[in-house]
Amino acid sequence: MATKKKNLAVYPGSFDPVTNGHLSLIERATHLFDEVTVAVSMSAGKNTFFDFEERIQLMKGAVEKKPYSDRVRVVGFEGLLADLARQLKATAIIRGLRAVSDFEYEFQMALMNRKLAREAETVFLMPALSWVYLSSTIVKDVAINGGEVTDLVPNNVKKALDKKLGRNKKKK
Ligand code: PNS
Repeated sequence: MATKKKNLAVYPGSFDPVTNGHLSLIERATHLFDEVTVAVSMSAGKNTFFDFEERIQLMKGAVEKKPYSDRVRVVGFEGLLADLARQLKATAIIRGLRAVSDFEYEFQMALMNRKLAREAETVFLMPALSWVYLSSTIVKDVAINGGEVTDLVPNNVKKALDKKLGRNKKKK
């Protein structure tokens, strides 16, 4: 009997850093696809808060526990997402849509990716309602200005933010 072809999805982003909103999307994607590859973009030219390797390690740390399972893996990439999707034989590119304001850029990107890699269809998912307002930019802004982000990001990211901002000094 022929074995069923696996449905693979690639979920690309800068993930600077990964938030609970991203994790909500990854979990949802695992319900729809056999395997989800989270692709951390090098984002050359963008002045990122965490460097490429840090963003990859933070994502790996965030998805290593249940419910993400062994069907989620994390890779770093540079160059075109369409090339990566083809190389991975992905049938879908996952992107998150939170608000109407996301739509224009996402629509442009989806159509360009369709032109570059016709075999991978962009699939938009919405995060859980609690994370609709959340973005990496907002999280960084709150953290940098001394606000509490414990409930907005996974534990390893909270620790990394504290460390980078010099706030992990133990009281003597
Ligand atoms: O989290 P972001 O910053 O919104 O993610 C954007 C990302 C990394 C998905 C996008 O910039 C991208 O795909 N970059 C790779 C280069 C590429 O393929 N550019 C053409 C996209 S149409």
